[in-house]
Amino acid sequence: MLLDTVIVLDYGSQYTQLIARRIREQKVYSEILPWDTPLEKILAKSPKGIVLSGGPNSVHAPGAPGISEGLLNSGIPILGICYGMQVLAKALGGTVERGKTAEYGRATVTFYRNNPLFEGLSETSTVWMSHWDQVLKLPEGASLLAESHEGVLAGFAGEGGKIWALQFHPEVVHTREGVSILRNFLFSVCACKPDWDLGEFVESMKEDIREKTGEQRIICGLSGGVDSSVAAVLTSQAVGDRLECIFVNNGLLRQNEAEEVLEAYTALDLKVHYVDAGERFLEALRGVTDPERKRKIIGETFIRVFEDIAEKVGGAVWLLQGTLYPDVIESGHQGKGAAVIKTHHNVGGLPEDMELRLLEPLRDLFKDEVRAIGKILGIPRNILGRHPFPGPGLGVRCLGEITQERLETLRKADAIFLESLRQEGLYDSIWQAFCVLLPVRTVGVMGDIRTYAEAVALRAVEAQDGMTADWARIDPVILDKVARRICNEVPGVNRVVLDITGKPPGTIEWE
Ligand code: XMP
Repeated sequence: MLLDTVIVLDYGSQYTQLIARRIREQKVYSEILPWDTPLEKILAKSPKGIVLSGGPNSVHAPGAPGISEGLLNSGIPILGICYGMQVLAKALGGTVERGKTAEYGRATVTFYRNNPLFEGLSETSTVWMSHWDQVLKLPEGASLLAESHEGVLAGFAGEGGKIWALQFHPEVVHTREGVSILRNFLFSVCACKPDWDLGEFVESMKEDIREKTGEQRIICGLSGGVDSSVAAVLTSQAVGDRLECIFVNNGLLRQNEAEEVLEAYTALDLKVHYVDAGERFLEALRGVTDPERKRKIIGETFIRVFEDIAEKVGGAVWLLQGTLYPDVIESGHQGKGAAVIKTHHNVGGLPEDMELRLLEPLRDLFKDEVRAIGKILGIPRNILGRHPFPGPGLGVRCLGEITQERLETLRKADAIFLESLRQEGLYDSIWQAFCVLLPVRTVGVMGDIRTYAEAVALRAVEAQDGMTADWARIDPVILDKVARRICNEVPGVNRVVLDITGKPPGTIEWE
């Protein structure tokens, strides 16, 4: 790939992803690597610039992340942000200490503007600070770039114009002139060309896939979700029918889901082997009520079914997965959490002796970028806009024993809830909504007759990434309609309750 690239080294900041996004928003390609990535691996990417992210540590903590001498002397322009500034200051012989006047959040700074990083900026501006430690003494030969009104050293430039450091966060919206600073770093300091374009990038990704896989065959487990669909369509457009997809119906899908997903895939020209393994899954789950056991059984059965089919398809060397950046990065809480969640969903649990090589074309991207790529590839909205759905499917929403009959009840209730949200125009603004069938029966009265039937819980949440969530405040008038429709139209249900638990303390799924 000939694109100008800026590497963001991740020191664990909650804003690391944001830095990479802001750079891409300026049409410069950016990739995140863990802070301790070996120098050769960084240099192999021929970066035009390096950004050191912030991070929660103190540079004085035992084993605190640092920076290699080789990188400092590489001649590649480096911009350290917050912890990144402290790392640079310490490495270059400055003094870093816990500040006397901690500035946390909004601060006003004066920019000393006779340098390329601050060109075109106001003299004073609002910035966002977020760390206790501060640089108290600049490294020798460094010049002061900015100072806060509380007297904090807010930025410095190293001798030679290759090292730049800021105590505040230019990537957050609260830093009023942050975008200008990042632009100056990219275009004046690093001399990057703004040549990152999602459309062209999609083409270069296809080229990469072709180069990597040569004439070899690829298999992919499709789930109907956004990530695997985008990965499959991208790869299929790159290599044609050397890609074979497998869509396993585990019998735990939502109402009409298998048909809808298959229809969508046919329209997308994907070669899909459909396996109806519903019976096999239900048989394996018979009598099981413990959530963890359910998950394990579903995961294992999936692998066995997938292996059987992969063998029949035969000759595949590569296993395509829709892994995204949050699943990949090992430093930082987000990646860790997401990776664990994905084990069931992607076929990440496949035994090593399958000897398939992993193909993960989306591994540097975020969900919204993947959705944008999906749009470029011509994937319809009904796939791209779908709510996340867990690998174990309705298995973890049908609490208690999973039977065909109870799954049918749950499907009907769930379809009513989702249909109502679509009708009310709420589906797209909600992260995820679904019904849970409870292992409880309650007494009711319908048509003067006593009933003793099951209860359904409505779960709808707002979230950014699913790691935390709040319950969605749906208009009670709509909830009322949904509850009445479920009791009237779904045999075996006489009570509907609403889940108003956030995450934490709850999780989004009930099991
Ligand atoms: P929780 O329930 O952990 O869910 O708050 C967070 C997000 O992850 C989805 N989820 C899963 N996705 N395989 C998946 O692919 C799983 O086993 C799994 N469990 C939960 C959940 O739907 C929510 O979006």
